Amino acid sequence: MKSDSIRATTVNQCWVPSMGVTSDYRAADGTIAVDTPLYDHVYSYPDVYEPAEDTFLLLDALEKDMVRIREMDPEVVLEVGSGSGVVTAFVAKIIGHSAHYVCTDKNPSACLCTAETGRKNGVVVSSVVTSFVDGLLPRLEDSVDVLIFNPPYVVTPSDEINNGGIAYAWAGGVNGREVMDQFFPIVPKILSEKGIFYLVVIKENDPDTILQELLKYGLQGEVVLTRKAGLEILSILKFTHVATLQDT
Ligand SMILES: C[S@@+](CC[C@H](N)C(=O)[O-])C[C@H]1O[C@@H](n2cnc3c(N)ncnc32)[C@H](O)[C@@H]1O
Repeated sequence: MKSDSIRATTVNQCWVPSMGVTSDYRAADGTIAVDTPLYDHVYSYPDVYEPAEDTFLLLDALEKDMVRIREMDPEVVLEVGSGSGVVTAFVAKIIGHSAHYVCTDKNPSACLCTAETGRKNGVVVSSVVTSFVDGLLPRLEDSVDVLIFNPPYVVTPSDEINNGGIAYAWAGGVNGREVMDQFFPIVPKILSEKGIFYLVVIKENDPDTILQELLKYGLQGEVVLTRKAGLEILSILKFTHVATLQDT
């Protein structure tokens, strides 16, 4: 099997064991809420995507699935395009230290920021500068239990996709689909049998065709949350292997 591991660079593996990770808050009505991770340092990384409405909608979807995520006892969590790292730090607050957290981003500053978010929130994070999972295959094959991608989804001219830095965060090319479409064929290869894939999209990306497209790869999906944020109509899609849905 071909291995292109030399192209991936791990910029961090860190753990601050004295800091607790999970810290649920139970409201009077029984609702359980997860702490938002610390991320103030993001503002000192000008090229890194600051957590925004899309990020927080994703956190809401993960929080909604908190019980299911805990029950599946994930071993590997992978966030592609981690940016600030706040999403992975949030998942770590749900699961705790039992999982291995891997983040990738094409933007080296984002990987450094993700590393710092890991340190500040007491999470071990392997933060890798790479595109999607280049250099991490075949090791990640069939092994990712929680897979997360908040991709660059904004409709832009195709050539903006390669502008680098902060442009990596939003430039999605035609229909905002060019980057995420490249990732879709990889998903069924890395998602474990019980794995769940969370994806952020906007209306212009045409969520219905994404659901159809991934069905061709044996992944059944649904829209779990939708919110209007300014001009964007954001949705979170959630996918599992078709067999997994049939079993539950
Ligand atoms: C919309 S931002 C999301 C950041 C963070 N996950 C969040 O939810 O706030 C998209 C991120 O994907 C990264 N990205 C874009 N193309 C990528 C690729 N091919 N592989 C890995 N990361 C990529 C960008 O650098 C950016 O950090």
